[in-house]
Parts: sequence; structure tokens; C-alpha cells
Amino acid sequence: MTKRNILVTSALPYANGSIHLGHLVEYIQTDIWTRFQKMCGNNVHYVCADDTHGTPIMLRAESEGITPEQLIERVWHEHFDDFSAFHVEFDHYGSTNSIETREYAEDIYRKLKSVGLIEVRSIEQYYDPVKSMFLPDRFIKGECPKCHAKDQYGDNCEVCGAAYAPTDLIAPYSAVSGAKPEMRNSDHYFFRLSDKRCQEFLQKWTKSGTLQSEAANKMQEWLGTEGENKLTDWDISRDAPYFGFGIPDAPGKYFYVWLDAPVGYMGSFMKLCNQRTEIPIDFDMFWDKEKAEQSGTELYHFIGKDILYFHALFWPAMLEHSGFRTPTKLFAHGFLTVNGEKMSKSRGTFITARSYIEHVKNTEYLRYYYAAKINGTMEDLDLNLDDFVAKVNSDLIGKYINIASRTAGFISKKFDNRLADQLLDPNAVALIAEFACKRSAIAQCYEERDYGRAIREIMRLADLANEYVNHKAPWVLAKQEGQETALHEACTASLNLFRILTLYLKPVLPMLAKEVETFLEIAPLAWHNADETLLGHRINEYKHLMTRLDPKHIEAMVAANRESLKPETHSPVRHAEAQQHAIAPIAETISIEDFAKIDLRIAKIVNAEHVEGAEKLLKLTLDIGEEKHRTVFAGIKSAYNPENLKGRMTAMVANLAPRKMKFGLSEGMVLAASGSETGLYILSPDEGAMPGMRIK
Ligand code: 2FM
Ligand code: ZN
Repeated sequence: MTKRNILVTSALPYANGSIHLGHLVEYIQTDIWTRFQKMCGNNVHYVCADDTHGTPIMLRAESEGITPEQLIERVWHEHFDDFSAFHVEFDHYGSTNSIETREYAEDIYRKLKSVGLIEVRSIEQYYDPVKSMFLPDRFIKGECPKCHAKDQYGDNCEVCGAAYAPTDLIAPYSAVSGAKPEMRNSDHYFFRLSDKRCQEFLQKWTKSGTLQSEAANKMQEWLGTEGENKLTDWDISRDAPYFGFGIPDAPGKYFYVWLDAPVGYMGSFMKLCNQRTEIPIDFDMFWDKEKAEQSGTELYHFIGKDILYFHALFWPAMLEHSGFRTPTKLFAHGFLTVNGEKMSKSRGTFITARSYIEHVKNTEYLRYYYAAKINGTMEDLDLNLDDFVAKVNSDLIGKYINIASRTAGFISKKFDNRLADQLLDPNAVALIAEFACKRSAIAQCYEERDYGRAIREIMRLADLANEYVNHKAPWVLAKQEGQETALHEACTASLNLFRILTLYLKPVLPMLAKEVETFLEIAPLAWHNADETLLGHRINEYKHLMTRLDPKHIEAMVAANRESLKPETHSPVRHAEAQQHAIAPIAETISIEDFAKIDLRIAKIVNAEHVEGAEKLLKLTLDIGEEKHRTVFAGIKSAYNPENLKGRMTAMVANLAPRKMKFGLSEGMVLAASGSETGLYILSPDEGAMPGMRIK
């Protein structure tokens, strides 16, 4: 069989946030597919990278007092470690902030320009006069023009759902500095998607079988019918200050992050080609239009359905008109829900990869659960936490591991770790043959990304294997005289069934499969090994392969995510509720000098405890980056359990005169919000704020 040459990518995660379980649906899905292809002997390259450019990353670095380069370097390591812990095995994990990505972005841009697909136009946009920067829509806030909810973003209202232009907002203000934005003109660079060439190409491309049917339908909505030309030109430039690549021959203009993000696929792959010198990989064979066509290389992008627009319209149009190949297929998936609802910080279901690793440890449980639910469509996937525990324990431990744990011991105790030389029982032989026979059907499920169907089939086989073990009852045979051969054969057959199941599960459970390979003393399992039988073979002592998932770990993980993260401020419901509250009258106006006198700092609560005899106070020990910690007595006992405060970041007034209180000296004040109704809320900074940072 000829080997396929495949390049696979997952969407590049932004370098301004942590990897969470929602992200992992995609990376685990892609990794399973890649591992499966490798097991089939195909040449597969799986690349990804951090998506590092844009205004949010620039501002976040600034708020942390570091350069964007330092920020993306730190986040790269965090992301890479998280992926590694979940056994997502990239052939290369890069960064869009690389020379290679820059070169291809410039190259594509120049080619588009040379064929007349780039146009410069002056546009009017909001400008923040305090920060001296143009404001992206998400950084402008104001009153919704429809429902008059306050503090809504510049593109849509989270209360009534209305979509509008930032210029429609009433009383707009900059979310960066709070300043009133001004309208200013600036030259922007546009990719002329409205051009007939782009429209015609996309009409064809989106109908050519590259998209799942649901995605192709969506595209038709966006593209309109042929001749309707619904696509408008795409603004691909941003003005300085911006963290990104400068546009050639356009001083002060940068490529919009979404222009160079997908080019990061090429950049990361180029890095891989440069690294693989022993068995060279030909970059052009995968990306050059003609060479790719001739050699039949395949390119697959796994993406979330939310970024279909970029991958199914902008990206193929960019590639096509700059002489590169277009993707063979886009594999779009749905979002993750937890317990049937959107992931939520206040419910503790916005779970980071890190906290899963810390609390649950075994990441293959999640790989298995996701695999059991992934079906290759764009439907959302639900992680039901109770079902997660039940499924892992019943399928993996109760069915699969059970086959080996009930039979392996006899091979070592009674047969000196050697499997039987032959199987005389025709039932055993037939069962092994039935298992091996499923190799094409299961392969097809993996190929089509319908892992759920693969898992159902594998678990059906596991049930058959357990029935076989139950029927043979090796524990009974072991006690009966003259049953050695029967016992030896039953255990040998069981372990052969177990070996085939391991092979089928290997794309999903690569670490467990590795341990089984060691236990069975066999070479790494490849797909074609399914129809082999291990006889007369020496194996190793069986060691327990997997422990049950204890629901306590899940509870602890949810509790940790609930406690350590800020409550949602963007929930429409909470927002709507907040609108209805009467607020206390605004205090007398003060000057900026007055305000500057207050030294507000980020503080880490290193300890929190009850104060004996105090009704309202908690004693907080705060780290604000000074040599000595501060003690502050805060009147928040009614609202907080001290245990839940430990380790949390908050804000304090650091230059308030120390106050001698009955219980000791209070060296400052933490900030908390309260209204006319019950409730007291201490403030939390956004992720990334460090103790001692000044709040201005
Ligand atoms: O939506 C996102 O998280 C983007 N960072 C994905 C980029 S995918 C590719 F185009 F780079
Ligand atoms: Zn509204």
C-alpha cells in the first residue's frame, strides 16, 4: 500500500490565555487522528504554534510590565507543557512570531498585491487620545443603542444580543484608558475579497467537498448564491502601536493578527522541515500548488466551528491567489459544554488544563471520554462530570483492564511468564479472528473522526472478551487438577484479545498502550499487527495498569476552579440583573491629583484567618511585593470563608495610615464592593497581575 503524505494542524491557541478543557477537545481529537494515521504507516506531520500577535497581547504585556516577547515566551512554555501532559504530540510546536511565518506572510501579501487584490483605503475609526492608539471594536465600550444597557462592547450587546458598529454606541469610552474616543482617519489595507476572482473561486471551493455538509451550508449563507457577491473586502492592516509584523513598504502599518495566524501553519511546518535533516521533508511538496497536486500530499486543518469563516473563506482565497495549495479538508467541531451548560467560571466548570492535571492527574481518562463522544460533526460535546467518572470506571477499568487483570497473574504464577504455544479451543481461535476482523471497520471510524463509533465497537468486543473469561473462569481452572492446558490456553487467548483491544485503543490511550507493550514484551503496535497472535511468547510480570477515577478528585477540581477564578462579569443574566439595581449617588468630583494620592496595589492574600472575638473581621496577610507582608483586618467575614481566600489576588490601598485596632495593627485596606442589598465582593485583578503592581 502506498503511504499517504499528510500535514495536519490544529488551530493555533492565543498566547494570552491558558489552555482549558474546551481547547483540548480539538487537540485531543487531532492527536488521535494523527496517531492513528501514523499507526497505519502513513507519513504524517502534525504542526501547531502559539498565535502571538494582536492588541490584547500587547496590552497584557504592558500591564504586566514586560515585553510582548517575554509574555509569549512564558505562555509558549505553559501551553507546550499542558499539551504534553495530555499527550498531544506535535511534530513541531512553534510560534507565529517567527522568521518563517513573517516571510510567508510577506510573500503572500506581495503576491496578492501583484495580482491587484490589495487596496488601500482611508477609513474612520475610534482613536484613544490618551493611549495614542486606534481602538479595536472590543476595546470600545458604551451604552447599547438598542436596550441602553451600559458598558457594552463595540461590536455587540451582551444584554439584548444586538449587533452594531462601535460608532452606534451611546457615550462610547475606551476600555483601555477610559478616555472618550475620537474619530480619526487612517489608511487601511484591504484584501479584495469582493473581487470576482475571489468570489468565483470560493463558490467553487466551498462546494468541492472540502467542508462538512453543515459547514458548506453555512458558507453558502455567507457567500450568497453565485453572482450575488455578498463578500466584502477584508481589512488586513492595523495601525501602530501593534504587536505583529510590519506590512512591507507601509510604515506604521501591521498585518492584522488573523492575516498571519494561519500562515503560522506554514511557518511552523517550515521549522519542522529545517529540523528534520535525517529524513528530509520537502516543504514545497506540501504547499506549492503544482507540486502538491502532482505528489498528492494532503492538508487537513482541525478547527472549532467559530473560526470557520477565517479558514473557509479568507485562508483559501489568500492561498489560491498567491500560488499556494489549498486545504484538502477542514474538520470543524463544536464547542464543549460541561454538565450540559456553557463552561462557567462561577460554577467552577471553566476548567484549565493545569487544574485537571493537578487534581485528576491521569489525562488519558479525558482523552478516552472525549473520544467516546467525538463523532466528526460540528455538534457540541458535553462533558458530564458524573458520566465521565462512571464511563471511565466502567469501560476502562471494568471492561478493558479487567481482561488482563483477571488472567495475567496465572501466566506468571503457573507458566513462568510464557504464553501457550498453541490454541486448541476453536472458540478462542474464532474469537481472536473476530477481533482481528474488525480492524478495517474500526480504522474507518478513526479515519472519519467518528471515534465514538470506534469506542462503541471496541467496548462491544471488550464485552465479548469478558464473557469469554467468565465462561472459562481461569480462577476455577487454577484450582482443578489436570486443567493446566485449559488454564494456559484461556489466559493466552484472553491476553491476545487484550492485545488487540490495546491496539485499537492506542490512538486514544498512547501511554497505556506503551505500558501494555512493555508488559507483553512486544514492539510498538501498528495497525497491521491486528491479525497476529502471540503464542509461545515470554511476557513480563503484570503490574496494575490503571486505577479507578475517584469522584473526589473531580469535586476538588471543580471547587478549585470555582474558588480561584473571578465570577463571570460578562454573563448577560448577571449583567441584566446588575442594570436593575439602584446605585448609591456618585460622590463629589475629585481632581486627578486627589486620586493620584491613593496608592492602590495588587495584593496576594497569603493567609486569611478568623479573629477571635471579632464579629465582622478576618485577619489577612498580604503580599504586595515588599520585604515584609502586611496585616490587614478586613470586615468581610460575613461573605468569605478564609480558606477560600488564601492564594487569591486582590487590590488594596497601600498608603492608608496604619490603624491600631483592638486585635492589632491594620496596615492598609482591601477593596470590596457592596450595594444597598446584601453582598460583599472583594476585587480581583485580571489573570496575570502580580503582587505590588500599581493600580492606576
Ligand atoms: O481562535 C483562536 O483561538 C485563534 N487563535 C485561532 C487561530 S487558528 C489559525 F488560523 F492560526
Ligand atoms: Zn442591548
